Amino acid sequence: MEAKLASKLKNISLVDSEMSKTTFIKDGPKMSRYTLADAADDLDHRMDYHIQGVRKEDRERVLNFLRKFFFRDEPLNYTIKLIPEGENSTCYELEDYSLSAMNEDLSLMAVSSSGTIIGVILNGSMGPPSNEEPDYITNCKNPKFKKILKFLHYVDVKSNIHDKFPNQKVFEIRIISVDSSWRGKGIAKALIEKSMEICKMRNYDLIRVDCSSAITGKLCQRLGFEPVYELKYADYLDEVGNPIFTPLHPHVSEVTYVKKVEK
Ligand SMILES: CC(C)(COP(=O)(O)OP(=O)(O)OC[C@H]1O[C@@H](n2cnc3c(N)ncnc32)[C@H](O)[C@@H]1OP(=O)(O)O)[C@@H](O)C(=O)NCCC(=O)NCCS
Repeated sequence: MEAKLASKLKNISLVDSEMSKTTFIKDGPKMSRYTLADAADDLDHRMDYHIQGVRKEDRERVLNFLRKFFFRDEPLNYTIKLIPEGENSTCYELEDYSLSAMNEDLSLMAVSSSGTIIGVILNGSMGPPSNEEPDYITNCKNPKFKKILKFLHYVDVKSNIHDKFPNQKVFEIRIISVDSSWRGKGIAKALIEKSMEICKMRNYDLIRVDCSSAITGKLCQRLGFEPVYELKYADYLDEVGNPIFTPLHPHVSEVTYVKKVEK
């Protein structure tokens, strides 16, 4: 099975006519390390994919993809059961957050040869956070999502990127999500690498990502990102001293990573 997959994976390329003509060849399958290895035979006929910018007309499709995957399985969303059980349920506040992250024309999606979205990275520019809690958090009506917004704001303030790296144009990776049946094949890696190319082309100085997941943390390290802030979930407590988030192993902390954009 692995040999069959290896030959298919050689066809994977990143194509984005607007952004670059670089072609990447995937170095080989890593399926055996992941729980979804058994699904590989079913995927065999559709292993080709390319990466393209998220256009206005793609936004609804991207949102559908995120509803199915990220809204449910990102470690913090999962641990607080952001999405109640039930196929059609959603979190409207996270939908708004995702849509606003698509406004800047910096986001990308991986699309299979059959035209299905199989991975998404939502990116945006980032200015210094205000120390006060912003209105969109105070006014958030969804108590579960509010917990996440508060956490993200806390991390923004504590990681203090704009003081650590003054006068830098900062590019932020906000959401990364891969279709569960395509994981472990380097799609997240390819989406981050392509985002790094965009950073360079659009003259950003620094790329930043808050990794709530140990998997993305490991990936960022491999891509040469430096950790600049870490918050252990066990140390982020509510008023009575209990941890607010208790994600499953191996997700023990949020780590903020940065990488200088090579000019
Ligand atoms: C995190 C996520 C985006 C990774 O996507 P992916 O396409 O499977 O990642 P890649 O194949 O590019 O793998 C990147 C690295 O992560 C590691 N990895 C991927 N899946 C893994 C798994 N299930 N267990 C352990 N390590 C894993 C691999 O070691 C790989 O590094 P390697 O090249 O040294 O082998 C995907 O698992 C996902 O969508 N998770 C749910 C949403 C989420 O957590 N988003 C990130 C929030 S910060």
